[in-house]
Amino acid sequence: MAPDKPIVAITRYIPPAGTAALEGKVNIRQRPDKYAPPRDELIRLLQGADAALVQLSDRIDGELLDACPMLKIVANMAVGYENVDHAAAAQRGVWVSNTPDVLTDATADLTLAIILAITRRIVETDGYMRQGAFKQWEPMLWLGSGLQGKVLGIVGYGRIGRAVAARARAFGMSIVYHDPGVSPAGDDRGLDLDELLATADIVSLHCPYKPELHHLIGARALSLMKPTAFFVNAARGKLHDEQALCTALKEGRIAGAALDVYENEPAFVAGLAELKNVVMVPHIGSATLETRNAMAALAANNILAVLGGGEPLTPVNKPAQGK
Ligand code: GLV
Repeated sequence: MAPDKPIVAITRYIPPAGTAALEGKVNIRQRPDKYAPPRDELIRLLQGADAALVQLSDRIDGELLDACPMLKIVANMAVGYENVDHAAAAQRGVWVSNTPDVLTDATADLTLAIILAITRRIVETDGYMRQGAFKQWEPMLWLGSGLQGKVLGIVGYGRIGRAVAARARAFGMSIVYHDPGVSPAGDDRGLDLDELLATADIVSLHCPYKPELHHLIGARALSLMKPTAFFVNAARGKLHDEQALCTALKEGRIAGAALDVYENEPAFVAGLAELKNVVMVPHIGSATLETRNAMAALAANNILAVLGGGEPLTPVNKPAQGK
């Protein structure tokens, strides 16, 4: 370990572009594991480090920051950053950064992939093939639901929501959105949430999680959706009430759901996996090799910028006083 170089703690194994960007410039202290460290190990790892490269399941709060006073930046390798108390960090002179933009296309692609999977029954029919159940082509075999002419309701009309809209337009869908922070533009219609829920054939969430949005989609919201509509969540699981969603799906009150995220990840509510009208994938919105490398490199470059005396490229807070 070079005594003159700052220490960067990395909480687990990350794509190689992240470590490559740091190598030779800093001392890297990295856990080789693929799973998140328990809290006490996380604190020990970050103690004495000048910077931390963390993941969305690493909880960084005031108590941890007090125990790790050398930290100048916490670089989250995710666009969402509800795992980091960025206000507590700012108070302590610590920058927090995220990884926007580089994952927009991958996340939007995955959203369309799960929309197509649920509406065209891809998972069910894959199982049918593997069981050897396909006897011959039939006019009424495995009918799904088309996208052309349907309405996509996007909740959270930021970078990812708009990228999903662009793809959906290519499938012949029209777009309505709900986002209190966005003024109307182009052909897309801004609606209040209840109106969107009642109008859309597919409701897709693309907003960040905040405590005030907890269970944004619960029993009442689901009851406003059309019985033919699909619910999609590739944002954050705590935006939906999973028990209410499971009940609505079981009772056929909505047509189906496609989920990339879960309320209490990695767990999901009992009964969900038994339902045929749900497609479930394990939080893989940004999971392409290219994107995960770009996220790791951006997190590393945010760290290098701060350790070099500057500001992160993609900050989410602004400490009153840097360290
Ligand atoms: C993934 O969920 C992210 O926030 O980047």
